[in-house]
Amino acid sequence: MSGSPHFLTHRSLTRLGVMGALLVTTASTALADDATLRSIDPGHGTDKVVVAHRGASGYLPEHTLAAKSMAYAQGADFLEQDVVMSKDDQLVVLHDRFLDRVTNVADVFPDRAREDGRYYAIDFTLDELRKLAFSEGFTVKDGERVTDYPERFPLGKSHFGLHTLSEEIEMIQGLNHSTGRDVGLYVEIKAPWFHQSEGKEISRAVLETLKQYGYVDHDDNAIVQVFDPNGLERIHDTLQPELGMDLRLVQLMGETSWDMTFQPGSDGKLEPYSYDWMYQDGAMQRIAGYADGIGPWKPMVIEDSSTRDDIKVTPLVKEAHAAGLIVMPYTFRLDEGRIPDWASDYDDMLRVFFVDADVDGVFTDYPDRAVQWLKHNGEAL
Ligand code: G3P
Ligand code: CA
Repeated sequence: MSGSPHFLTHRSLTRLGVMGALLVTTASTALADDATLRSIDPGHGTDKVVVAHRGASGYLPEHTLAAKSMAYAQGADFLEQDVVMSKDDQLVVLHDRFLDRVTNVADVFPDRAREDGRYYAIDFTLDELRKLAFSEGFTVKDGERVTDYPERFPLGKSHFGLHTLSEEIEMIQGLNHSTGRDVGLYVEIKAPWFHQSEGKEISRAVLETLKQYGYVDHDDNAIVQVFDPNGLERIHDTLQPELGMDLRLVQLMGETSWDMTFQPGSDGKLEPYSYDWMYQDGAMQRIAGYADGIGPWKPMVIEDSSTRDDIKVTPLVKEAHAAGLIVMPYTFRLDEGRIPDWASDYDDMLRVFFVDADVDGVFTDYPDRAVQWLKHNGEAL
């Protein structure tokens, strides 16, 4: 597969750490002009990219093949796949480890919740998961399902089902064949720590699947991202070398207070993982030792306390670029209440991130809007 050679150059630079931070900074800056994340220029007029977050999820239920094909048609450079493992070790495309938010699992399998009341995808076989109807995300209030996004695709309409990682790859590769484009995969392995605690080896299985479909080398058009730093380091240090792979890796950044990542303590029991080190001096150099980029939450790049007249760009992007890392923040939405007060609208929010902060790409539920923005403004970036 053709690929993204300059991104490799970024990473290679980070491995020249012995040459000193100043040299790395200078060299990275010099190369930033021709750095690119994609293998074929789709016509944005810029190297910056659009990742369809769970597909065109602003328009169709997240992670359905319908949402993915819409995002593809809207011109996204990458389609994102969140991946979890089923009871029978199948890789399925699903954001949550749980089924409650986007399926009718409570109707179909009412007795299969765990003690915490949640329905875990890992407790169901692929055949069972295929029996579920998928929808836009919802919350149950007074026994009624209330959509999380009232302006999005309505609950209970049409029929959407779950698919496997292989099925999505085959659809994307099929579309790449039929359209002549080269849209990439942006795979997130969900909670390796959790799967490991359940006796499942999700990371190796995802890498083997990617390899099976031809995604092996650094220049191949697939990126792997993980929130769990232990899990990502293991992919870099152990799994990719064992499998003869060298795919690009991205460290997703979370906050310790989110309680989203755990690790075994000295007594073997799971304890919360602290992300605090990621916000201290030297963090980007540390990440550059095992990854090629970072995926920060938007407020980690533009402070929430910003105003329209006073945009506060954090040092994160500059520090990441100096370490040779790309920066791909999440998640850009235009639903009510999802655009920060410091931006006048969605396009203004994109402008601040692409122009003021110089991020390399964005995760968005509305890829059409970001692609259009880059088409109109990309050449000036
Ligand atoms: O992977 C970037 C973004 O998808 C991270 O957030 O929770 O939507 O997976 P989440
Ligand atoms: Ca994700």
